[in-house]
Amino acid sequence: MNDKHPIHTTLSTEAIRILERYEQELGTKNIVLERALLGMDKLRFKDKIDPQSIGRIIKRVKTGIKGFDELLEGGIPEGFVVAVTGTPGTGKTTFSMQFLLEGLKNNERCVLFSFEEKADQIIKSAIRFGWDIGEYIDKGYLEIFGFTLLSTEEIIEIFDIFKPKRVVFDSINILSDIGNFRRSSRWRTILKDIKEKKMTGLVITEKKHGLEVKEFDEFDFMSDGVLFFDKKHINDLDQYKTYFIEIQKMRITKINEMPLEFIFSEHGIEFRVPRELLKSL
Ligand SMILES: Nc1ncnc2c1ncn2[C@@H]1O[C@H](COP(=O)(O)OP(=O)(O)OP(=O)(O)O)[C@@H](O)[C@H]1O
Ligand SMILES: [Mg+2]
Repeated sequence: MNDKHPIHTTLSTEAIRILERYEQELGTKNIVLERALLGMDKLRFKDKIDPQSIGRIIKRVKTGIKGFDELLEGGIPEGFVVAVTGTPGTGKTTFSMQFLLEGLKNNERCVLFSFEEKADQIIKSAIRFGWDIGEYIDKGYLEIFGFTLLSTEEIIEIFDIFKPKRVVFDSINILSDIGNFRRSSRWRTILKDIKEKKMTGLVITEKKHGLEVKEFDEFDFMSDGVLFFDKKHINDLDQYKTYFIEIQKMRITKINEMPLEFIFSEHGIEFRVPRELLKSL
């Protein structure tokens, strides 16, 4: 095949086959298609990865949430977009804010797009946990867009100018029909940009059912990880409900898929994970 098409030596066999088919149909050489195929072929991974050093290659971003990073081999892999999903009032926003706070403590720029809450309300709830995010806003490390109606282009522009390392979207159900996420060009553009710029993102989505129901939406499949938040009465006599997170998915990471109990302390969310469980990971 290469003898017939010496000019296409850098193309994969698959790409040459596509080119040949179209050239036969058109009866002429199709330069535009050839260029497009060359571009696509660049997506093939050509570097060698040493399996021994894989742990060092995967950079993990700490959530900073007490007891949680240990459950994820040290943190969320850099460049991941993770769904923070679950039922109402279960700590999704608090968890995501804590993730941003950890970045801020390490001088990383962070951005929060909130579609449901005003910026001042977000700041007030942060202050309740003793997080002085006002200081980070003043210093230019944190941008909060409350009740935002930004377009895709505006969001990408913010990424270009502000260059955040961590980004949170709270919540995205309002933006696009969750059943159509995979095909939403808006989301594909944003997700591609997050990955290309090596940011790490938490994307909050809503569920109308708790952990006992195994029903997943497009975003659960599309995202690199799924953290499901829920709360329930453990015993009939309990006055308060117990909060849980289930790590339902985290690509390239060994996880325990049990619901894990957490509490709201005066500093935010905290996990008290039994030692035996950590040993099993
Ligand atoms: N210090 C605290 N102690 C106990 N519970 C708290 C504390 N702070 C917040 N909560 C509870 O956490 C819930 C709110 O947390 P958060 O806003 O993070 O949840 P959410 O999942 O984002 O909620 P929503 O679905 O409304 O967006 C509330 O139900 C509140 O009662
Ligand atoms: Mg919330």
